[in-house]
Amino acid sequence: MSQAPIKFAYWVPNVSGGLVVSTIEQRTSWDIDYNRKLAQIAEKAGFDYALSQIRFTAGYGADNQHESVTISHALLAATEKLKVIAAILPGPWNPALAAKQLATIDQFTQGRIAINLVSGWFKGEFHAIGEPWLDHDERYRRSEEFIRALKGIWTQDNFTFNGDFYRFRDYTLKPKPLQQPHPEIFQGGSSRAARDMAARVSDWYFTNGNTVEGIKAQVDDLRTKAAANGHAIKVGVNAFIIARDTEEEARAVLQEIIDKANPEAVKAFGHEVKNAGAASPEGEGNWATSSFEDLVQYNDGFKTNLIGTPLQIAERIVALKAVGVDLILSGFLHFQEEVAYFGEHVLPLVRELEAGRRVEKAVA
Ligand SMILES: Cc1cc2nc3c(=O)[nH]c(=O)nc-3n(C[C@H](O)[C@H](O)[C@H](O)COP(=O)(O)O)c2cc1C
Repeated sequence: MSQAPIKFAYWVPNVSGGLVVSTIEQRTSWDIDYNRKLAQIAEKAGFDYALSQIRFTAGYGADNQHESVTISHALLAATEKLKVIAAILPGPWNPALAAKQLATIDQFTQGRIAINLVSGWFKGEFHAIGEPWLDHDERYRRSEEFIRALKGIWTQDNFTFNGDFYRFRDYTLKPKPLQQPHPEIFQGGSSRAARDMAARVSDWYFTNGNTVEGIKAQVDDLRTKAAANGHAIKVGVNAFIIARDTEEEARAVLQEIIDKANPEAVKAFGHEVKNAGAASPEGEGNWATSSFEDLVQYNDGFKTNLIGTPLQIAERIVALKAVGVDLILSGFLHFQEEVAYFGEHVLPLVRELEAGRRVEKAVA
């Protein structure tokens, strides 16, 4: 098991409707004031990262969306230590713009920006904004060139690159980012193409929620491939966390979320993502096997099963760490209250367990 303490990130709720497609009451807002306060709470609670989302349109109830780079900068300006990961989508972004924009933010924020390079799953979104829709593995070929170009621009002077998608001629970016060698590059996706790309060029592999066995299979494949390439890769796993004083309370909340799911929105989302998951040639992409209940949390966050008492959750986090996970990406129902609760009741138990100490029950 890694000696480093496991890290924690939370999803920035910068799209409306929270992180579940359900009519259950959610005291979470997508507005900027709520998000600034949440970032400050998270930083205080011991979270390392916040991850913002990019959507140009959404078919599952997330009708309003603030843009990811803009909100990431706003959250960095409102915090002191938190790193914020901005989602970047090849197509709408090109590497020249992204490299410049993120280098400037890195300069302005003492080196706290990171990126999540996403590859696109929603054909309707690409059509709506007039972007060509590439086949699944072509999307990853483009993403890989995007990352290689970003790294080149960020680390070299007189950068020249002859790709199929991007070309640079003797280009020198000034100023470069503060972070050395460059801001961290995360990527989202679970297919074979996603793992192949991560094992060559990314710093972090972000995947949807899954069982410990499901995660282990991905991590083993990823690390074998990365080792063959002489590349080091870290792993972050999504989880929708429901921590309550008793397991019954936590399970009841999950049940209520599912009972109050918006069936039309979940089915519409399911239709799109099944296309996306099945579109990867081997059929292993995100959502390829997700049930209706799974899809109520749109990144399969219930599957990770961080639902129960603080101690149960802390034990399951340490079990994920034992199979090679470096970071938990978390979503919550009522973000501000639950991020604070997590920092107070769950995180200290994780640290105790990581240190090999026996924990009988949650510390009040
Ligand atoms: C943690 C995580 C975050 C993601 N964030 C976004 C996002 O903000 N916007 C987006 O369009 N896609 C996002 N995605 C989707 C992926 O980039 C990718 O398109 C999708 O997972 C399908 O890829 P796959 O076939 O390799 O599984 C995210 C995926 C993961 C796992």
